[in-house]
Amino acid sequence: MKKLLIILCLNAAMTAVFTAAFAINPPQKMQIVPEPMQLRETENHFVINTDTKLRFENLFPCDPTVHYIISNYQHFFGFVPDTANVQNENCIVFERLIYDDQELGDEGYRISVNNKEIRIIANSASGIFYGYQTLIQLTPADLIAQPQEQFSMYGVEITDNPRFEWRGSHLDVCRHFFPVEYIKKHLDIMALYKMNRFHWHLTDDHGWRIQIDKYPLLTEIGAWRVFRDTNWIHAQPAQPNEKATYGGFYTKEQVRDIVAYAAQRHIEVIPEIEIPGHCSAILVAYPQFACDDYPYTIPVGPYWPPKAILCGGNEAVMQFLKDVMDEIVPLFSSSYIHIGGDEALKGNWEKCPKCLKRMKKLHLKNPEQLQSAMVIEIEQYLASLGKQIIGWDEILDGGVSKKATIMSWRGQEGAIYAARHGNDAIMAPASHCYFDYYQGDPKSEPVSIGGYLPLEKAYQFEPIPQDSLTPEQAKHILGGQCNLWSEFLFNTQKVEYMLLPRLLALSEAVWSPKEKRNWEHFKQKITAQKVRLHVMGYNYADSPVDMVK
Ligand code: ACM
Ligand code: ZN
Repeated sequence: MKKLLIILCLNAAMTAVFTAAFAINPPQKMQIVPEPMQLRETENHFVINTDTKLRFENLFPCDPTVHYIISNYQHFFGFVPDTANVQNENCIVFERLIYDDQELGDEGYRISVNNKEIRIIANSASGIFYGYQTLIQLTPADLIAQPQEQFSMYGVEITDNPRFEWRGSHLDVCRHFFPVEYIKKHLDIMALYKMNRFHWHLTDDHGWRIQIDKYPLLTEIGAWRVFRDTNWIHAQPAQPNEKATYGGFYTKEQVRDIVAYAAQRHIEVIPEIEIPGHCSAILVAYPQFACDDYPYTIPVGPYWPPKAILCGGNEAVMQFLKDVMDEIVPLFSSSYIHIGGDEALKGNWEKCPKCLKRMKKLHLKNPEQLQSAMVIEIEQYLASLGKQIIGWDEILDGGVSKKATIMSWRGQEGAIYAARHGNDAIMAPASHCYFDYYQGDPKSEPVSIGGYLPLEKAYQFEPIPQDSLTPEQAKHILGGQCNLWSEFLFNTQKVEYMLLPRLLALSEAVWSPKEKRNWEHFKQKITAQKVRLHVMGYNYADSPVDMVK
């Protein structure tokens, strides 16, 4: 009887403790984005407080992931974590497995929240990192704005592993330039939603954005254009003698810093250097690389049809591109360099004696094959430097090597063709992945380039096209990616507005098992995620989430 009384009293005391903890900070039900592979809620609770310790097993203290977790924990939870005192209770354990757990692959993890500890286990530092991101999402959405002395976490057992290896997000920094601090903020939000490829569109007609020592005019001249304080569509062309004051570029030191920052968040940075079109900024700086002596300028607004194209028959152009690659390659740890290839209108080539001569010499049937010849020469050069190429789907038009990876934007067809022919491909069809499109009724949205891609449609994105590929061919689809072209993104607030919350929809398409995706559930999760985005200082769209029927 006495024993029973003690148990009853203990129970009452425990309930009081938990009630107090909940009263301080009611936890949210599971709102994780992207939806994990397996999730089971349990009756357990774990209370995080100032005494909670962090323990790292089989991870070196100097590991960038350990550094990230310690500093992020302090920032996010508001406690300086104690990592020195080993204890078995009230502990968050990050355990890198010595023997691989097949179910987790390279990037997966398990997380268990029970009464005694939170344990995250993985085969790799990436898995530990993603487990930590899930842990963040298990905490109250507004925690960062309202730090607590203690708060409760629901018990849960999660096993998770991404569906695709390529979970990409592209940003055009040419039409408008965005500073290093913003690029880091962009990488932070990618990391929270387990996105792992940052496609950095660094060169275009409207600006060249990366320091190249051998060709200083690329940034002295090519990084600057005339400023217009109007919408893109209405921008008047530059007048003679008007000063080009608007733009900017990243120094090599800044690029290295960003690549390291991304790597600590398990994000690979893929630079894009456009060949052979979208090159006004190059031709203004180095007019000798054009087919003609037309006075090219850096456009300040829409530039269509684009006349600017690098001469395809000039050896000096190929040497220039190789010299540029010599300086680009050492800055980036990714095995890929994106060589562009889209929208290269070839009117100049059809009239240029040098281009025509080269076509004849190589027995090429059309200008598309001349583009292919350029691409293949650069591809081989990059291969000698240990890199592979990615190109927009136009590079298929004149034929590609077996090793080129195709980024399919004009629809899914490019990726389907590539996968059927044994080439790897990334799905980024404009219909579902162009986040510069309107996400609500244009009458109530900030002015954008056009198109219509509400959250629900972004959520419907499926990287493997139905009934088009055999299972073997489908393995060539590496994943999917959203693209953010910046014509109308005149500041970073607008970048965030167009990215969010659609990035969350994409993250489920590329991470979660297909059968786990559910629009109704996702819609509920978005409500809590918007609180999270708000307290983290991101500007997101609050447009109606359903498609207008
Ligand atoms: C593209 O949108 N021009 C790739
Ligand atoms: Zn030419």
